[in-house]
Amino acid sequence: MATPKGYVDPDYLRVVGEFLNQLKRRTYTSMQIETGHKVLDVGCGPGTDTIPLAQLVGSTGQVNGVDYDEAMVAEAEQCAEKAGVSAWVKHKQADATSLPFESGYFDSCRSERLFQHLLNPAAALAEMTRVTKIDGWVVVLDTDWGSGGIDTSEIDVERRLSRFNAERMFHNGYSGRQLYRLFKKQGLTDVSFEVFPVAVTSYALGRQMWTLDRLEREALAENIITEDELHRLQTSCEQADAEGVFFGYGCVTLVAGRKGGHL
Ligand SMILES: C[S@@+](CC[C@H](N)C(=O)[O-])C[C@H]1O[C@@H](n2cnc3c(N)ncnc32)[C@H](O)[C@@H]1O
Repeated sequence: MATPKGYVDPDYLRVVGEFLNQLKRRTYTSMQIETGHKVLDVGCGPGTDTIPLAQLVGSTGQVNGVDYDEAMVAEAEQCAEKAGVSAWVKHKQADATSLPFESGYFDSCRSERLFQHLLNPAAALAEMTRVTKIDGWVVVLDTDWGSGGIDTSEIDVERRLSRFNAERMFHNGYSGRQLYRLFKKQGLTDVSFEVFPVAVTSYALGRQMWTLDRLEREALAENIITEDELHRLQTSCEQADAEGVFFGYGCVTLVAGRKGGHL
């Protein structure tokens, strides 16, 4: 299969996952998980969340993860095996817009940094809602690539790169800001939202988290920036880093809603 837009590998997901650990935990809290619950993680990657979720539901519960990337699913299955939770944690290959589960099967359902990749996020949310039982929680954490930026004297270059990233490197790069609307239009009730800044003070970590090698390569190829402009931007970031004052941030949005009896 051709590499999809914005593809990241399991190692990347583990590094970012550790960085976002507090936010991940917050999504679990929003799901209101109890021992014995059945929960679903859509766009589960290499099992970054299904394994911790397994501890929360316990062996009387059930965790399902789906991802459309077969390699991610295979890696997630291995991780569950290694963690000793494979009896109640299963991963399957599936598309978020066509979930292979009965309606009302799960007590709660989550996805994290999936919607940014979707061409039809409303269809995925409708599916997540369908497979969740009445009164169960649907929780989505996603990035808004149009928020945030890097402190640099080369602000014009940085702004062009940032916009190119949001609009061309992802199918749905402004995902974070759309979630509240999507949840309300889906008819979910008790909809709550929180927006979290994710700040980085290491240029090396920023380059990795924002996949800057790929972004810069593609922006050069599309003539969004010149080699000279990129060199100036990189030099300013390297200088800031050497002085211990590098600063960049992005924003993620967490939205939770409950499936009412009308759905
Ligand atoms: C940025 S990763 C996040 C993975 C995981 N949720 C985490 O927090 O580590 C996005 C994941 O969504 C998956 N994905 C993208 N589009 C999908 C789709 N239409 N249906 C299911 N999974 C999808 C990718 O294969 C990838 O594993």
